[in-house]
Amino acid sequence: MGHRFTLHFTHLPTIQRVLYTCTLCVLVLGYVFAMIYIVASHHGRDGNPMITVKDIAIAYGGSKTGTKLESALRGPMSGMLPADENLQIVAWLQSGAPKKVYDQELKTIFDDRCIACHNNRNPHLPSLEDFAGVSAMAEQDRGVDLFTLVRVSHIHLFGLTFIFFIIGGIFMHAHFKHEWLKIAIIITPFVTIVIDVASWYVTKYFEPFAYVVIGSGALMGLSFGVQFVVSLYQMWFYKLPDEVQQRFYCSTVPDGE
Ligand code: HEC
Repeated sequence: MGHRFTLHFTHLPTIQRVLYTCTLCVLVLGYVFAMIYIVASHHGRDGNPMITVKDIAIAYGGSKTGTKLESALRGPMSGMLPADENLQIVAWLQSGAPKKVYDQELKTIFDDRCIACHNNRNPHLPSLEDFAGVSAMAEQDRGVDLFTLVRVSHIHLFGLTFIFFIIGGIFMHAHFKHEWLKIAIIITPFVTIVIDVASWYVTKYFEPFAYVVIGSGALMGLSFGVQFVVSLYQMWFYKLPDEVQQRFYCSTVPDGE
């Protein structure tokens, strides 16, 4: 039944398999960079340099104890200044971020270490040129704001659908003994994209959902990996079993002929 209209890889012209191979290879590169980006932008938020569930929870829901500035200083911005200055700023934050201490001791640190990037001329980064800018970052960290989540959601939903439509369209030429397994592998990423995006919003208000964010991301990655490996393998190294070959040729003859 299931094989009736699906050509196996080995029946596709070489040019099509070459195109598929190039597409898969570049997609896998993109995936690797996406992973690097996730680790680079989220790790260390909880003080532990490895990426943890807590990091994800803080990224979406905010740190219940620290501030945006503190999360950044413990995480992605920790390399921007020496450890003692970093501690000095964190201590200041924890003491309630008084303006007097900022004026006397900290302004020079921000000027030396931060404003090369965080200045009024760069609209994409919060300005740390003056006390107003710094104290805006010294407020309680509430995590990603809703507007950003909405923006990232639509990008992910569109982008990942393209990716999995393409990779699924390639992978469907694979031969599986159990057709349902192939179908499950193709469906998985579409289901997990929706669960993943939805769980960002839930995590924002209910931290334990960080596990769902990670679990659905992992399942999506697994499906991607399986489709990539199986497709490349069956395209170039696999010999379709004789009985399947047989069934394939019989079943491609249209009914009634
Ligand atoms: C080389 C450029 C550069 C320097 C220097 C730099 N930053 Fe950043 N900073 C960035 C970029 C890019 C981002 C946004 C990407 C990210 O979050 O990783 C960012 C993000 C931040 C954020 C998070 C902003 C938000 O809206 O969540 C804070 C807070 C921050 N930096 C503080 C600092 C502090 C404090 C210093 C100085 C000790 C500093 N940065 C030095 C480039 C820089």
